[in-house]
Amino acid sequence: MRPAVLVTRATFPDIADRLREHFDVSDNTADTVWSPTELIAHLQGKLGVMSTGSERIDANLLDACPQLKAVCNVGVGYNNVDVAACTARGVLVTNTPDVLTETTADLGFALMMATARRLSESERFLRRGEWIKTGIHNQLVGGDVHGATLGILGMGRIGQAIARRGALGFGMRVIYHNRSQLAPTLEAESRARWVDKATLLSESDHLVLVLPYSPASHHAIGATDLAQMKPTATLTNIARGGIVDDAALTAALRAGTIAAAGLDVYENEPKLNPALLELPNVVLTPHIGSASVHTRRAMAALTVDNLIAALGKGPKAGRPPTPVNLEVLRGQTT
Ligand code: 8YV
Repeated sequence: MRPAVLVTRATFPDIADRLREHFDVSDNTADTVWSPTELIAHLQGKLGVMSTGSERIDANLLDACPQLKAVCNVGVGYNNVDVAACTARGVLVTNTPDVLTETTADLGFALMMATARRLSESERFLRRGEWIKTGIHNQLVGGDVHGATLGILGMGRIGQAIARRGALGFGMRVIYHNRSQLAPTLEAESRARWVDKATLLSESDHLVLVLPYSPASHHAIGATDLAQMKPTATLTNIARGGIVDDAALTAALRAGTIAAAGLDVYENEPKLNPALLELPNVVLTPHIGSASVHTRRAMAALTVDNLIAALGKGPKAGRPPTPVNLEVLRGQTT
């Protein structure tokens, strides 16, 4: 009997077909959003799962699916997976770093530019049948991107790719804050300078958040942080909901504490704080950071490679290309 695996969301059929060479594959081509109970039911008897950020893989699910051996998540971020609970049960976790770096940096930069130059607001204005009527000084006038100070909170691969865009393409001064300072070669390649968080907040014209979500980064940007920013500044979040306190952000945008925000991720997504929808000075996108055809295909292909190898099949059997907890699991068994 061939091992059984589950693909939780619709994906590229030709890429998913590679799984069928090794496994009995159950999939969700209708792309229904399953409740936790439905997900557990679909996972019965499955040794591996190709999951996405929309599914929570937690201790409760793992206990209800004791045969599960591999959780291969589509995405670089894996805060939807309780890795410690997986490791404790011998379940291998993988993610999809690198393949999405440049595409996600493109979206971050686009969102930052759209926010600074008020693109969504301008389009809504035009679609209402309006045109600039007043003087040149106050209607849909935004902030410059070129030559401004770009601040980056979280300086992993995507943060560095955004820094390069700002410095090389737009002549921006780039500052960043991260728990650890980059190695000098990476700092030179990114043309970015490490600063403390207070300096980042007070000096950035455009602040972009690219740090992973963890309990430590929960509400890393709240009311007191927003109060330290320039009233002309913009804030862009392409990292994870929960890093920004959305209620505090809404209040700050209403009060003019900062000028505008660009958001691709939300605290309780897919639910949005309804107040955000009422604000003119926000650009809102539905978590599309990695959403180019090329990159989504690369993410799906890497996840399939991970799942095949994680379950001991194919040329890389036992050596999935991008594991999250393989070292720890190996340490546990030696
Ligand atoms: C994914 C992401 O689209 O990679 C990530 O961390 O947030 C996105 O690229 C999302 O995780 C869906 O799986």
